Amino acid sequence: MRIVHYPHPTLRHVSKDLRLVDADLRKTVAEMFELMYEARGVGLAANQVDLPYRLFIANPEGEPDSKETEFVFINPRFLERKGMAEAEEGCLSLPGLYAQVKRPEQVVINAYNLAGEEIKYELDGLFARIVQHECDHLDGVLFIDRLTPTGRMALSESLAEFELDFRSHQDRGELPSDDEIAARLNELELART
Ligand code: CO
Repeated sequence: MRIVHYPHPTLRHVSKDLRLVDADLRKTVAEMFELMYEARGVGLAANQVDLPYRLFIANPEGEPDSKETEFVFINPRFLERKGMAEAEEGCLSLPGLYAQVKRPEQVVINAYNLAGEEIKYELDGLFARIVQHECDHLDGVLFIDRLTPTGRMALSESLAEFELDFRSHQDRGELPSDDEIAARLNELELART
């Protein structure tokens, strides 16, 4: 398992709800936490590790030893979104890029945890921002899609470099083709969603 970078097609995949939580999924989630901490992130969505599951993890403290702030959100839904706030965001699939993003300030989110129990949290500040950024991933949306035209323009050169880099890896056969990626996602989806 590894974190895929923009413009990997799985980042644009709209994931379907998971049908069950089992030992395999728990193993996947444990691996995702390892990768997230390694990359010094505070959130990671299944799309970012090339999996078509409606699932993301978060730890607003971002430290492997802060287990009490580790969260798993399976099949998340927003029950409420209020206010508006602007803050800087980055993404492990767009390393090195940061921009100001406007989002609702407070959210109520409903999901299932790894024990298969229903959870509901009222969040604000950084944690509210993380869960919205990660839920966007599950819908194939990236923070660069939420920028002002000026913000987007400021990143356009870097994005073009990411695109060139990804396509040249594909051309050299170091990454699967778009068709191969789509076929694998379809297979995984049939098995679990
Ligand atoms: Co991200």
